[in-house]
Amino acid sequence: MSSFAERSLAEYYRGKRIVITGASSGIGKDLALLFSEWGAHLALTARRRELLDEVKAQADKGGAEVLVTAADVRDSAAMQTMADDVLARWGHVDLVIGNAGIGGLNPATCFDLEIHRRTLEINCLGLANTLVPYIPSMLARREGHLVGVSSLAAFRGRPRAASYSSAKAQQGIFLESLRMDLRPHGIAVSAIHPGFVVTPMTEHTDFNMPFMVDVRKSSLLIARALKRRVPRYLYPWQMRWLVRVEGLLPCRVYDWLLPRVSGQREDLKPRTL
Ligand SMILES: NC(=O)c1ccc[n+]([C@@H]2O[C@H](COP(=O)([O-])OP(=O)(O)OC[C@H]3O[C@@H](n4cnc5c(N)ncnc54)[C@H](OP(=O)(O)O)[C@@H]3O)[C@@H](O)[C@H]2O)c1
Repeated sequence: MSSFAERSLAEYYRGKRIVITGASSGIGKDLALLFSEWGAHLALTARRRELLDEVKAQADKGGAEVLVTAADVRDSAAMQTMADDVLARWGHVDLVIGNAGIGGLNPATCFDLEIHRRTLEINCLGLANTLVPYIPSMLARREGHLVGVSSLAAFRGRPRAASYSSAKAQQGIFLESLRMDLRPHGIAVSAIHPGFVVTPMTEHTDFNMPFMVDVRKSSLLIARALKRRVPRYLYPWQMRWLVRVEGLLPCRVYDWLLPRVSGQREDLKPRTL
């Protein structure tokens, strides 16, 4: 990205009031650090308070206000309380990024319903618990931007990933419906679909992860897409094209091909990532 493009992003985000979930690690943490460098005010949340405090210590150097709240996105009351507190302090929020999520494997041959439940609760209900509390104040202002971080795994079922793929698909469809309902009220809704990004979630060798991008590149791409208020953003471009081609494959071809190219071992057991 050219320095001119970065300067124009910095200008756009300066002074914006931004909420980010899953800000203790990976994509959410790096987005928080990038936005803080650009002078955005931040309200950050995740469960691990000590990690959030470390992110705050770094983000504070940007000079804007950084609020942190330790909360579980599954706890709708806690997410509502956080939104009430943030809105009481700031009056309004410009951008809410529902990024908190867990990954995981759940092979159908030894399917673990507890992992399934946890994956859906955190990724799907957690996203609703994150975004919904800000809708009334955005409706009143006729302004605002709601974002969910889904995945490229949302578009077709990935092998041994029934829980993760279906949760990410739900997020995409949820965001699409919100988008239609809220657009006439001046509120933008964006679904972000990352490919593989270097974060703690991808620190494993359970399957192949082609065209992996580093987390800062991911943050810059997301920031640029959100500035354009795109309805849906798939990245990196190589994976965007692969997903488009995959979408055209008949089921029999897809079912034969995917397990072979995924590089997964046969002995994988259910686990979250
Ligand atoms: N990395 C990738 O390749 C990739 C690709 C596609 C999509 N994504 C999506 O990107 C998002 C971020 O993933 P990441 O790669 O940055 O993973 P990560 O480094 O593991 O970070 C996940 C974040 O979510 C938070 N979180 C998890 N469960 C939570 C809960 N119950 N309540 C509140 N916060 C919770 C974690 O914080 P605490 O543990 O402190 O609560 C952490 O901050 C996820 O939605 C993921 O599905 C990632």
